Amino acid sequence: MNTRILGTGKYHPDNIVTNEEISKRVDTSDEWIVQRTGIKERRVGSVKNDEMPSGMAARAAKIALEQAGVKPDEIDMILFSVTLPDYMFPNSASVLQHKLGIKNKCACLDINAACTGWVYGLTLANSLIKTGVYKKILLCGTEMASGFNNWDDRATCVLFGDGSGAVVLGADDSENGSQIIDSILTSDSSKRESLILPAGGAIEPVRQKTLDENRQWMSMDGQVVFKNAVKTMSSHCATLLKRNNMTVDDVDWFIPHQANLRIIETTGQLLKFPAEKTIVNVEKYANTSSASIPAALHEAVMDGRIKRGDTLLFAAFGAGLTSGATLLKF
Ligand code: UT7
Repeated sequence: MNTRILGTGKYHPDNIVTNEEISKRVDTSDEWIVQRTGIKERRVGSVKNDEMPSGMAARAAKIALEQAGVKPDEIDMILFSVTLPDYMFPNSASVLQHKLGIKNKCACLDINAACTGWVYGLTLANSLIKTGVYKKILLCGTEMASGFNNWDDRATCVLFGDGSGAVVLGADDSENGSQIIDSILTSDSSKRESLILPAGGAIEPVRQKTLDENRQWMSMDGQVVFKNAVKTMSSHCATLLKRNNMTVDDVDWFIPHQANLRIIETTGQLLKFPAEKTIVNVEKYANTSSASIPAALHEAVMDGRIKRGDTLLFAAFGAGLTSGATLLKF
């Protein structure tokens, strides 16, 4: 039994925030942001428009279900990768079950591996499908990064955006070749504090003191994250190719986590991977954390770049510091 991506979907809020708009609030410029990150604009959702994680995921999931030709009640499990969920509990997967009108009481689980969460979820879903536990899994990566973004901190606020990507995964025993070929997941906890949302958890519930000290926002050591991203993504991809007797020539499309164009380009150079076979949309949406790979996948499927039978390579990194890569036949 293999795992096939039956359908893909995505959603980004309509509200566009440009670099120029941000530079009116903090001491930055379009030139600096584009040069250091490749980002030109990002989308920012609002709870009023049902653009909290569950609302964005519902829109992406409906497209993925439709493409897959799968009815919501056929889903056996919802895996929901999210860093800032709707609530601490119940999990966002349960809220999504409700929003999709699923009545079959399917299993619902949130995953938090930050920006790597969707790639982690893909490996978990593949294991559950291959071992026959479930036949159809809805896997979403959805992030409302604007909820932990300090709009007064120029070092981080320019980097993130909101959005969602979703796939429906199904058990497949046909000869079409679709399969998750291999994956690697790691986490380097020695660097766990280099990207952190310090308050809001059990250690430091949000109180007036937290707000006074601005500890309710994300804090990041950008250079540590940058170096680790390039190192782990390139080495994981190289390992996956080597242990499956493949080279970059066997890969049709590389979809790296869309965090920063310089990270994407440097990783590609280390892998000697051609830029024209790398999917990039960070300029439009900025870093949408674990939504970035499934949303970029959907975009490339819809515009005809990615076709059935293509070999794809995904790579991601994020807080933890987590990292992961997956090689698959679409
Ligand atoms: O999904 C994981 C999420 N995190 C990431 O992907 C982040 C990975 N890291 C990065 O992408 C890069 O490290 C950044 C884009 C965050 C920063 O780029 P950098 O080339 O590493 O810049 P830097 O931190 O070394 O800062 C260079 C200068 C500093 O000024 P001084 O000390 O040289 O005077 C910063 O204060 O740029 C300054 N700076 C800015 N200037 C204008 C930092 N942010 C900004 C800004 N606008 N937005």
